[in-house]
Amino acid sequence: DQYTAEINAFSPANADELEAFRIKFLGTKGIIKDLFEQFKTVGPEEKRTFGKVLNEFKQLADAKYNELKENIATSTQSKGNDLDLTLPGDGFAVGSRHPLSLVRNEIIDIFKRLGFVVAEGPEIEDDWHNFSALNFPDEHPARDMQDTFFIKKNNGKDDIALRTHTSSVQVRMMEHGKPPFRAIMPGRVYRNEAISARAHCFFHQVEGLYVDENVSFSDLKQTLYHFVQELYGEGTKVRFRPSYFPFTEPSAEMDISCTICGGPGCNMCKYTGWVEILGCGMVDPNVLENCGIDSKKYTGFAFGMGMERIANLKYVIRDLRLFSENDVRFLKQFQTEM
Ligand code: PHE
Repeated sequence: DQYTAEINAFSPANADELEAFRIKFLGTKGIIKDLFEQFKTVGPEEKRTFGKVLNEFKQLADAKYNELKENIATSTQSKGNDLDLTLPGDGFAVGSRHPLSLVRNEIIDIFKRLGFVVAEGPEIEDDWHNFSALNFPDEHPARDMQDTFFIKKNNGKDDIALRTHTSSVQVRMMEHGKPPFRAIMPGRVYRNEAISARAHCFFHQVEGLYVDENVSFSDLKQTLYHFVQELYGEGTKVRFRPSYFPFTEPSAEMDISCTICGGPGCNMCKYTGWVEILGCGMVDPNVLENCGIDSKKYTGFAFGMGMERIANLKYVIRDLRLFSENDVRFLKQFQTEM
């Protein structure tokens, strides 16, 4: 009876008190256990009454305990009794930008400051925009040079292919507008090449186009020189080597001084100290005319660079395949504010 009163009156202030209650009455060394031990020793005629009282008492203790346990659970939830505001919070798993996105954003930033706008075109392209308008003669081996993935192949003129370069966007831009043009055109391009550390069946380019009256080769050089200083830092050297593209005349390839050169043993520049980063030139008058632009009045320059190469030099990535494997161990190294 004394215990019954204690149980009924019991009102714990917290979970610890309730646990003490459980141990006292319901635990393996608790009062109830003890009473059941005593029960074994009582005489047969007392067993019935004692057993009944004992069972009722046990039920009461059980019920009280379960009820209090629920109360405590809900009240700690609602009152936040157990909430420790000094604990550090659960961190959010924040992703990182892909290195190619970082490079693209940076390139766009630099050219935007020079007044270039950003333009894009389709990845599935027709023969005209990828080749013919860019002054690739029909049946010219240059078409094969680019290892084109054809989607539909007829007689050249209405072939459909995955674009092999972003120069196709130049054509679209000039066809649909009026000079001056000052744009950069980032995007994915495709070439039918065996996948290795140095080649892939797709990669990314940024095309640049500047067409206006009196645009000269020195504008081209100064623009690209400035670009490289911004991207790789003051003092980065450039050199231009004569080259050939059907859509530019004259054409050049631009090298920069190796940004990650560790001296002998550098396998980025192969000991030469120079790395090629882009192709460029003055837009061929035929291309301007193909796009309906008066080549007597306007001149322009164009350039195209591979974003993977730019990223390789910035982040010392030596295998092209890393860019498209989505390996988190690779990607998470590019945590940045950008
Ligand atoms: N389209 C050329 C390529 O893919 C690069 C280039 C662009 C060269 C513009 C000159 C002018 O290699």
